[in-house]
Amino acid sequence: MKLSKESICVQSGHFPYQAHTLPIIPSSTYVFDSAEHGMDIFTNKQKGYIYSRFNNPTVDFAAEKIAALEGFGMDQLPACYLTSSGMSALSTLFLALLKPGDKILSHFSLYGGTDELFHRTLKALNIETVIVDFDDLNAVEATLKNDKAIAHIHIETPANPTLRCVDIQAIANLAKQYQKKLSVDNTFATPLLQQPLLLGADFVIHSITKYLNGHGTAVGGAVIGKDLEWMDTIFKKAFRLLGAAYNPFEAWLLVNGLKTLPLRLRQHTANAKTLAEYLNKHPKIATVNYLALSDHPYHNIAKKQMEDFGGMLSFELKGGFEAGTQFLNKLQLCVRAVSLGTCDTLVSHPASMTHIGVPREDRIKYGISDGLIRLSVGIENIQDILADFEQAL
Ligand SMILES: Cc1ncc(COP(=O)(O)O)c(C=O)c1O
Repeated sequence: MKLSKESICVQSGHFPYQAHTLPIIPSSTYVFDSAEHGMDIFTNKQKGYIYSRFNNPTVDFAAEKIAALEGFGMDQLPACYLTSSGMSALSTLFLALLKPGDKILSHFSLYGGTDELFHRTLKALNIETVIVDFDDLNAVEATLKNDKAIAHIHIETPANPTLRCVDIQAIANLAKQYQKKLSVDNTFATPLLQQPLLLGADFVIHSITKYLNGHGTAVGGAVIGKDLEWMDTIFKKAFRLLGAAYNPFEAWLLVNGLKTLPLRLRQHTANAKTLAEYLNKHPKIATVNYLALSDHPYHNIAKKQMEDFGGMLSFELKGGFEAGTQFLNKLQLCVRAVSLGTCDTLVSHPASMTHIGVPREDRIKYGISDGLIRLSVGIENIQDILADFEQAL
């Protein structure tokens, strides 16, 4: 039976002992019936488990759910590997794809860790990142045409923390034309709100730490890829050798979190819309970045490629950094913390927290000002969130 994305999130499976919920199998190694059985599994003649750095039944169940969601509506489902963090998803993918001398084409703003991975760790391996303004498709095309070392394009949309969006389909078309692969960090949107593979991307990355887990109980990542043969050979090898594996308990937390993802996202989005409208009219607020606001510069791109606008927003107080810190310190319900996508409202200050490693001039140039405050709007009663903001402002 063909299920909707909402039902895929909720759906259980057929488990040993007729268990209704997913069993956690915390086994590092697996037993072969005979020497021949072991050899057959090692040589891929038979499917089976070998060692949990390679794969694990609990983790596989969770990975298949993410593949079904990201690949919803596709003729052939993509492959999904769950990893120990969003950062290990990114680093494993880039180390599997690239070699010294290759370049990545990307944009600003990105999650601070991704930016540092590009400009520090990968740069030290002689894998450089070229940053271009992705609002300017001609500039993207000119770079692809002129710089033959560019081997890969990576985008994050909506991007952390500015909510800038990139037109996935337009970039996927350019990637195809110039025979490059495209990866999209879909952490902010989740596959319920945006499916980059359907829009032409080759890979999707997630920090499953965020909305997919939904409760702030585990750090994790996912790499989803369309090219099954590449995923099953080159990526699988890198994944196993770099030791990026996820663990069964956290995969179990993920599967439980996914069950309420559709409901949570609806409430996150409804609350974020109300809060953004309130902030937009508030005399002490200078700017509000929320994609549902029709005057937001990326409203139209978001509307085109997302099913809804999600629960992330950022804003700036008129008093800049000073006013921002005072506001953060006065909050009583909303939580001062980095990360996002948990049930409760999280408030952070990118310049001194998530993006502290990004050079100030780059931050400012691309909209991460000293006073910018990022909000992951939770699913509390919106009246309580509004009351907390009112007293703090
Ligand atoms: C958009 C985005 N991508 C990747 C990451 C890295 O994920 P993790 O912290 O799970 O390693 C984050 C973390 O905040 C993020 O916001």
